[in-house]
Amino acid sequence: MPTVLFINACVRGKDSRTLALAEHLLECIREANSQDMAFHIEEIRLSTENLLPMNYERLIRRNELLAAGQRDDTMFDYANAVAQADMLVIAAPYWDMSFPSTLKIFFEAASVEGITFTYADDGTPIGLCAAEDMYYVTTSGGYIGDCNFGFEYANALCRLYGVQNAHFVSAQGLDLDGADVQAIMEAACSGEILHVG
Ligand SMILES: Cc1cc2nc3c(=O)[nH]c(=O)nc-3n(C[C@H](O)[C@H](O)[C@H](O)COP(=O)(O)O)c2cc1C
Repeated sequence: MPTVLFINACVRGKDSRTLALAEHLLECIREANSQDMAFHIEEIRLSTENLLPMNYERLIRRNELLAAGQRDDTMFDYANAVAQADMLVIAAPYWDMSFPSTLKIFFEAASVEGITFTYADDGTPIGLCAAEDMYYVTTSGGYIGDCNFGFEYANALCRLYGVQNAHFVSAQGLDLDGADVQAIMEAACSGEILHVG
């Protein structure tokens, strides 16, 4: 059964508007594919994971494992999950012009040469991931404008991984004075998804 890997970087649990938007998107994906084949949704909830930024000791261990071809070590669980998924859905609130730091640690762990990407002899990157589509879901207090660094970074990494199509889903301006949060959320749920090939 095809797998949607849902990378949940929402911090505020059930109060998270980003999570609500992502759950709506997952429901749409489920409905759109119900005729063909059901999707299995595998969630990685970053707020409950034991995420550690890379340090020197783990970097050495990682290099040793890769040199020994031990790509099934638990150190590579996130990389293998990303490589094997048929679709990626990333949900992350817009924090400090990008996303919460847990997502950066997740990307750091997922970006492993030989699992999510490799290089051709001439140095050209070759993506090793099965997924063709990545959806990036965010909500923001103000307007993101040309500071969409979180999505742009996720999009660049996904291109490295070989994921062809990136889609941006957002609800913006939620914390502005007088914002009609419910109306903005409803418009985001029924609105266009920005596609970036
Ligand atoms: C730590 C933190 C940083 C934030 N940084 C920004 C920001 O740079 N720009 C902005 O427009 N909103 C910012 N916000 C507001 C959030 O983007 C907004 O409230 C969003 O809807 C939160 O998503 P959530 O409901 O899923 O938690 C920030 C909020 C927090 C808590």
